[in-house]
Amino acid sequence: MRIVLLGPPGAGKGTQARRLSESTGMKHLSTGDILRAEVAAKSELGLLAKSFMDKGDLVPDSNIIAMIQQYIDDPSGVLLDGFPRTVVQAESLDKSLKEAGLPIDKVVHMSVDTDELIRRLSQRVMCTDCQTPYNLDHSAPAKAGVCDKCGGEVIARDDDKQEAVMNRMKVYQELTAPVLDYYKSHGDVAEIKAIGTPDSVFEKLSQAIGTSVSAN
Ligand code: AP5
Repeated sequence: MRIVLLGPPGAGKGTQARRLSESTGMKHLSTGDILRAEVAAKSELGLLAKSFMDKGDLVPDSNIIAMIQQYIDDPSGVLLDGFPRTVVQAESLDKSLKEAGLPIDKVVHMSVDTDELIRRLSQRVMCTDCQTPYNLDHSAPAKAGVCDKCGGEVIARDDDKQEAVMNRMKVYQELTAPVLDYYKSHGDVAEIKAIGTPDSVFEKLSQAIGTSVSAN
């Protein structure tokens, strides 16, 4: 099974994809997480990506498309979080999946109003070592600035600074909102209002995906 989670920065795609992955065994494919790992490793891709990510711009399509190829036919099923983010990426994904004989089973659009998105992102912090996410509003680490899991340093993402957040919102409207129209013109998109507690959003998401959530 392949599920695409669409939504603006801070909509909760990562939060919900992690939970869904735990409950179904599907692979959580977050292009943001993969890129942050590349940045931490100071790889060639990471060094290139950082210059785009810190400003809140998108990494070029060609780098992203090459990066995700190895993951999309995972036999456990895939939850796509943060990809596709441009129409070019969506077309490329369709082509690759068609060649592999694999369909996209569900596209879910998670909507949240802008004030709430900005509030969530202003409270988000993350471990610089193991990438465990926290939120100072409702899920802060037990000791301020220290990761509960690995003892690493917990700080805000560079792209959660105000200027980068405003640019990410603009980039979303310009380049990623058309992906929603692309999927609507090709078939069904399930719409959920991703507000309320993470538990209540998970319930809405599970309903939108259907009870048949399973591998393959
Ligand atoms: P990426 O990491 O994908 O960032 P994003 O899409 O902007 O998404 P976020 O991680 O900000 O938000 P989310 O929706 O996952 O929300 P989360 O669950 O964390 O990408 C980062 C950068 O990498 C991009 O800007 C770009 O440069 C590059 N990139 C990545 N993919 C790319 C691609 N395909 N093409 C080109 N470039 C690419 O939740 C946010 C916060 O809210 C958390 O603190 C969480 O605890 C909290 N929260 C979640 N749900 C709730 C709730 N229901 N109530 C209260 N708080 C909540």
